[in-house]
Amino acid sequence: MCVTKIRDNIYAVGVKDPDVRIFHGYKTPFGATYNCYLVIDEKITLIDNVKAKFTEDYLKNIEEIVPIEKIDVLIQNHIEPDHSGSFPAIAQRNPNLAVYCTNGAKAGINAYYGIQSMDWHIVKAGDTLSTGKYTWHFIPAPMVHWPDSMLTYLAEEKILFSNDAFGQHVCTGETYDDEMGLPRLMERAADYYGNIVLPFGMQVQKLLEQASGLDIGMVCPSHGVILRSHIKEMVEAYSRWAKNECDMDKVVIVYDSMWGSTEEMAQKIKAEYEALGKKVHMHCLRDEHYSQVMGDVLDAKFVMIGASTLNNNMMPTVAAFMTYMRGLKPKDRIGLAFGSYGWSGEATKQADEIMQSMGWHTMPIRKQLYRG
Ligand code: FEO
Repeated sequence: MCVTKIRDNIYAVGVKDPDVRIFHGYKTPFGATYNCYLVIDEKITLIDNVKAKFTEDYLKNIEEIVPIEKIDVLIQNHIEPDHSGSFPAIAQRNPNLAVYCTNGAKAGINAYYGIQSMDWHIVKAGDTLSTGKYTWHFIPAPMVHWPDSMLTYLAEEKILFSNDAFGQHVCTGETYDDEMGLPRLMERAADYYGNIVLPFGMQVQKLLEQASGLDIGMVCPSHGVILRSHIKEMVEAYSRWAKNECDMDKVVIVYDSMWGSTEEMAQKIKAEYEALGKKVHMHCLRDEHYSQVMGDVLDAKFVMIGASTLNNNMMPTVAAFMTYMRGLKPKDRIGLAFGSYGWSGEATKQADEIMQSMGWHTMPIRKQLYRG
C-alpha cells in the first residue's frame, strides 16, 4: 500500500496483499489489505502491525514518515498473525516502545513471539491515553472476534480504529468507501461478516451499544477501505446481522451433483420458490468455494442443501460446507435437505441431521432415485 495521508497528522501505512486467495480457509478472490495507521502528535503513535511476510514493506512505509526508533506508542488492537506478524521486527528496532493492548493481547504476543520485556500497558474499558493534543479511548471488544480484540477511538479527530470490525477483504486502488460505492462495499462487508464475525452476534450488539455513544466521523478498519460516507449504513447492517434479522423472502440453494439429477432438483426448487415470489440465490459447490456462500446465508431465512449420496455419505464438497457453516452458527433458519442417489441415499438424512443439530426447523427431506 502506498502511504496515504488521511488527516493532517494521520497516515495509513499498511500493506496490500492482492494475491492472497485463501485467508484461513476463507476464499478471498479480491485479495486483502492489512491496514495500519501512524498518528503524529507530541508522542508518535502506531496502530497495529501486518502479516509477517510484509514486514519489510511495512517498515519502509512507516519510515516514509518517521524513523521506527522515533515511535513512542504502539496500540496493538488484536494479535491474530495478520495484525501482529511484524511486531517482533518493530520491537527489535524500538525496544523502548510503550505498547497499549488488552491482557489477552499481551499474553498472545508473549506466546507467539516469546517477547516479554516491552513497556506493556494493559488497558481496560474506559481507559484513556494522552499523547499531546490527542486523547485515545480504549474499547475492549472480547470475541469481536477474538478474546484479545479491542477498538480505539481518537476523540479529537472522531476516528474509530476498529481493527477487524467493519472490515472487508478486498484489495483495490480505492482508499475510501465512497470511492468503492455502497453496493460493492456492502457485498464485501456481508461476505466478511458471514465468514468471520457471524458466531459473535451478542458481542457485536454489545460493541454497537458502546459505540453508539461516540461521535464517529471516520472508521479506519484493519481490512479494506476506510469508511467516511457510509458509516450509518454499515452500522445498521451490523446491527441487523448481529440480531440475526433474516429476509423471509430470501432463499439460498447450495448443492453439488454427481450426475446432474441433484442439480435438476435444485433447478425445480428454484422455480417453485421463484413462483412464490422469493429471491433465490443458487450456489454450486463444484464451481464455488464453500466460504463464498456465507455472505448469502447471513441474512437468508431459507437454506436448501442439495446433497447427492457418494459411498453412503454426502459428497465431500457438501460435507465441507456443512462443517464450515455449522462452525459459523447461523441460527433460526428453515432448512431443506434434498438430493438424488443410486442405491442408498444417506446424504440427505445426514444434511438434515446437521441442520437440526444447529437448531433449525427443517422441512421434509426430498430425495429421488437417479434413473439415468
Ligand atoms: Fe484480521 Fe482477526 O484478523
